[in-house]
Amino acid sequence: MSRVKTVVLISGRGSNLAALIEAAKAKDYPAEIALVVSNKADAGGLAVARAAGVPSVVIAHKDFATREAFDAAIDSALREAGIALVAEAGFMRIHSAWFVERWKGRIVNIHPSLLPLFPGIRVHEQVLAAGVAESGCTVHHMVPELDSGPIIAQARVPVLPGDTVASLSARVLAAEHKLYPEALKQVALGLGRE
Ligand code: GRF
Repeated sequence: MSRVKTVVLISGRGSNLAALIEAAKAKDYPAEIALVVSNKADAGGLAVARAAGVPSVVIAHKDFATREAFDAAIDSALREAGIALVAEAGFMRIHSAWFVERWKGRIVNIHPSLLPLFPGIRVHEQVLAAGVAESGCTVHHMVPELDSGPIIAQARVPVLPGDTVASLSARVLAAEHKLYPEALKQVALGLGRE
């Protein structure tokens, strides 16, 4: 079985990256985590990649004058590595429309809410302020509009009385770590059939 060469784009801790790397260790997993790209040199996820023996590269947005130039550098790195699928996991930069269009159908993201509810940042704050009884996470195809695009999979968790951002985000994160590997599997299987 040829596995779909996948890059994970990160900016931080990399716990979803760790979950994806772990899942991809299974021989029958249809994606190979072949590269990690971080826009931050101090992202914790870079150590996760190193420990797993996954090649990583830092492409710092600060080194580029425009969003387009930054995205062009990412695009070149992905093409050089023969990447066929892009998985964003806590990547905190907004892409230019051309980048998303160029990877259309091959670029996915995880967001810590039940989209279309609570897009954007400070998601758990938004959820707690709204007083809803349920939250969760969403893996979706990326389109140029932020946190939009066809939903691939969602997982639900309860919002409990007395929840704080820390307790809610930990519950959602545990759900993310199960959902993302499953959703990426579906997408990679689909691409493998193309
Ligand atoms: C996750 O909550 C993800 O949904 C959001 O950013 C966070 C990344 O966490 N997009 P980690 O770096 O994977 O631990």
